[in-house]
Amino acid sequence: MTKKLLFILMLGASLVSCSKKQDATESKIDELISKMTLTEKIGQMNQLTGEGASANMKDQIRAGVVGSILNEVDANTINELQRVAVEESRLGIPLIFARDVIHGFKTIFPIPLGQAATWNPELAEQGARIAAQEASSVGIRWTFAPMVDVSRDPRWGRIAESCGEDPYLTSVMGVAMVKGFQGDNLADSNSIAACAKHFAGYGASESGKDYNTTWIPETQLRDVYLPSFHAVADAGVATFMCSFNDINGIPSSGNKHLNKDILRNEWKWDGVLVSDWGSIDQMISHGVCANSEDAAIMAVDAGVDADMMGFVYIKNLEKLVKEGKVDEKLIDNAVRNILRLKFRLGLFENPYVKDTSKVAFYASGSLNAARQAAEESAVLLKNNNVLPISTKTVKSIAVVGPMSDAPADQLGTWVFDAEPSHSVTPLQAIRQDYGSKFNILAEKGLLYSRDTNSKGIARAVQVAEKADIVLFFAGEEAILSGEAHCRADISLPGAQTEMLRELKKTGKPVVTVLMTGRPNTISEEVEKSDAFIYAFQGGTMAGPALADLLFGNAVPSGKLPVTIPRMVGQVPVYYAHKMTGRPASNIVMINDIPVGAFQTSLGNTSYHLDAGDSPLFPFGYGLSYTTFSYSPVHLSATSMDQNGKIMAECKVTNTGKYDAREVIQLYIRDKVATLAQPVRELKGFKKIMLKAGESQTISFEINACELGFWHQDNTYSVEPGEFQVWISKDSQSGEPVSFYLK
Ligand code: GLC
Repeated sequence: MTKKLLFILMLGASLVSCSKKQDATESKIDELISKMTLTEKIGQMNQLTGEGASANMKDQIRAGVVGSILNEVDANTINELQRVAVEESRLGIPLIFARDVIHGFKTIFPIPLGQAATWNPELAEQGARIAAQEASSVGIRWTFAPMVDVSRDPRWGRIAESCGEDPYLTSVMGVAMVKGFQGDNLADSNSIAACAKHFAGYGASESGKDYNTTWIPETQLRDVYLPSFHAVADAGVATFMCSFNDINGIPSSGNKHLNKDILRNEWKWDGVLVSDWGSIDQMISHGVCANSEDAAIMAVDAGVDADMMGFVYIKNLEKLVKEGKVDEKLIDNAVRNILRLKFRLGLFENPYVKDTSKVAFYASGSLNAARQAAEESAVLLKNNNVLPISTKTVKSIAVVGPMSDAPADQLGTWVFDAEPSHSVTPLQAIRQDYGSKFNILAEKGLLYSRDTNSKGIARAVQVAEKADIVLFFAGEEAILSGEAHCRADISLPGAQTEMLRELKKTGKPVVTVLMTGRPNTISEEVEKSDAFIYAFQGGTMAGPALADLLFGNAVPSGKLPVTIPRMVGQVPVYYAHKMTGRPASNIVMINDIPVGAFQTSLGNTSYHLDAGDSPLFPFGYGLSYTTFSYSPVHLSATSMDQNGKIMAECKVTNTGKYDAREVIQLYIRDKVATLAQPVRELKGFKKIMLKAGESQTISFEINACELGFWHQDNTYSVEPGEFQVWISKDSQSGEPVSFYLK
């Protein structure tokens, strides 16, 4: 029997056994639902936050009116509550315990925006796998991550939790995180259900203010905000979470088009859709529901399976079913999804944490992975040949700034279970790893990012004057980004910019390292720095990672997952913008306009008089200690039909003296279409290691079917015509070549 035939037979057998298992699970679900009272069914839809092993919680579990619990993280308490569910409730249906394990449980990885800056999905998957192992060791089997909201507004605090402005990069990183959290088999005790959130369009919140309204035309919703959700749905994400915002007036928790037409009927997704915290009840505040009963009706009709801490379902659904206002079939559908998840997690067979004494935290392999992620998340924006630091030219180093020794703030937002005592800060790492080679002088100057203490600045300046080089660690405290932490002014908080000005006056070379939760406006800071690293908040091992980069034991390879604006007035500013009918040309900046200039003398094209038309740094940008050259792009053909594919190739050479990683990016533009299309869109990327002097030819397969867009009649299709292709180092570089789609 040929190997191929054997493979086909084995594949067929596994598919058959898989479908048989699914059928068996569905039969078990049917049998269970047939035994459940209406109260018990609605109980499965009720998600509560933990309150320990209280009598009140145990009574509710025993009565069968709790389906899942979030924010309980003590293994013994979880086992005790689970024991009540399994042994003392009428049907013994196990609970699911959930937690926001966003970028680590104990071993903290860079914030998701930083992980996106690695452009390394394998690292993101590894980080999620480690988080799942640590969290599941205490009984957490459901995390509310990854957040796959695309965001193009750095004022929005939750951009920190996102993978940035691009649908393709967010899709790739989101799928990797789902695979990491869920592992190869969701029933494995160290796998946890992932959650695609916040569905949908949350990143488009008006003015970057959290929870705010969004206005998203259906074509933009489907082209920009839904692809990452569709990608993780196709990748098997076990759960989704509703977003707080309304889309064009309809809150997501009551949005039947979003949650049923698209998520269930178009995408054929069969997981659990959970509301966000109280988001069902908040439809009253939105003004689309008059009262709690209306909210219950709207949400259950829109397919929201579980009510997180809203108490809307548990208080109203039984009465509404009995009054004939809610069809019990809707309840059954929701309960079916919830029970399916519990079967998939293996909770009926293995409901308990087996070994509560087994501590799986901070394993050396986990810390090394976190260090690698922090290293690859750092983006080198500027280097006037001051990095890497060498003993040949430097003897003493001043380590200053509020983020130089900030163990809690370097972890970033959404780290409920982290322990800052385990953080290794830049100052600690520099002292322990490089203190024998250099004389390290330290003075934070400002104690935290919002500090304005000029006396502290003076102390830092005194230290700087004694050193050969100054390392200025600036940024944002963790509290200044994340949920509800939005800023209308995204400049550096406190007196950090003033501190840099004073440091600059010493005449010493200044290296600025920014540890932040968002794109900040840093034009002056970059101009006053001799080198600049954008490090986001890098997690537990941020310090050693940054030290290795600063001293050359590692080479920067991060690329921006978001655009860095020159000023907040440019926002929203992103690479995949439209050309417009008057693209910027002949730009005359505000201070160059002649006094008395006539109204039309400036050319009437699209730019800001005081900012121009370009960002400070574009999406995909990042320098290295080496340099790379890109050959012209070669296409395997100059035309293809609607079912065709073309290979695009480019030879990349490491033309410098450091072995280094490079992220090679594929962009495509549909030059003429019935709806104006972006000037370019990321369609692929590869991160490779090239030794000094080494070349590698990188090829990308371009499939015609991936070049379409959504039309106003709600169909997706590819249109014939000219397409341009770039293979480049960032979203503004490279020369395009064209092919034609027939
Ligand atoms: C919060 C967040 C959501 C989180 C949930 C549970 O309000 O919006 O992302 O998962 O509540 O903590």
